[in-house]
Amino acid sequence: MIYSKLCGTGSYLPEKVLTNHELATMVDTNHEWIMSRTGISERHIAANDEYTCDLAEKAARIALDAAGVNANEIDLVIVATTTADQVFPSTACLLQERLGISGPPAFDVQAVCAGFMFALDVADKFIRTGSAKCALVVGAETFSRIIDWTDRRTCILFGDGGGAVVLKADNEPGVYSTHLHSDGRHKDLLCVPSGVSRNYQSVLDGNAFTTMEGGEVFKWAVKGMADLVEETLEANQMTKDDLDWLIPHQANVRIINAVGKRAGVDPDKVITTVGHHGNTSAASVPLALDESIRNGKIKTGQLVLMEGFGGGFTWGSALLRV
Ligand code: COA
Repeated sequence: MIYSKLCGTGSYLPEKVLTNHELATMVDTNHEWIMSRTGISERHIAANDEYTCDLAEKAARIALDAAGVNANEIDLVIVATTTADQVFPSTACLLQERLGISGPPAFDVQAVCAGFMFALDVADKFIRTGSAKCALVVGAETFSRIIDWTDRRTCILFGDGGGAVVLKADNEPGVYSTHLHSDGRHKDLLCVPSGVSRNYQSVLDGNAFTTMEGGEVFKWAVKGMADLVEETLEANQMTKDDLDWLIPHQANVRIINAVGKRAGVDPDKVITTVGHHGNTSAASVPLALDESIRNGKIKTGQLVLMEGFGGGFTWGSALLRV
């Protein structure tokens, strides 16, 4: 049996930090309100000349370094992003070129805040079927570009960043299983209702922004991610006690706490990093993973359940031994 094994992680946050206090000078809000409703105190914002591929590249180089892998060993590149640099080629192709990799498949996956879980699932399947031996999987976003910075209901939540992992084929898990779901009936609850083919004028006018029914999204995110914990553990005949760490999508602290509580996971096992980077969409889970490995929380050999939830709705999980 072939499994995919995590052998390196990396992440990158843009230099500019936007605090709640600064936000309070831009919209009618305040630090206390944002902290009490979201647990977010600051987020990072890409510079005007900094693009998603720049964040992806920085995170990817750190992950390659941590894995001790040369770029020419990579035979699959997947980038999860909602905020691609260009309509085409894919950000994965742009990243591939920067890393000096030519030939192996490179493509983007779009599942918004669950994007990294979808990308990881695809990479895991490539490796399990023998189609790839060493995959680079990245989640990177410049979500600030699709935020209306005059809308206090959304602008307090999001930030920019990138996270990356290197997966290698191995005889032992590694990734035990991945689980993906989507339900397009909820397409209007969290979306940017314009793009290249539809409402293009709003893109040209610079008004293609994220809209959200916050309360509804909250409810579905908690249910989706709590159910995923059960589904994932059950599929592997494991229990919450077997888990060392749960990394839910870093959307906001209240959602993360509610997921842990509903799923019955000990709060001390739930990773929370959203407070200092906000919701970075597809980058949120690999960012939290990388940070927790680097600060020594997550140790080699431990069992980690990661999960994402995003617009669509889309939601997915992966259970792995790191
Ligand atoms: N600062 C101050 N007041 C704000 C505010 C802000 N940034 N944003 C909204 N408010 C106001 C509202 O206008 C409302 O005022 P009103 O009662 O006078 O109309 C009041 O606060 C309560 O708004 P409400 O939307 O009910 O707040 P909430 O407790 O649901 O919190 C969210 C709002 C967005 C924090 C919350 O719904 C949430 O976290 N949703 C999930 C969002 C998310 O994670 N999305 C991404 C998932 S991938």
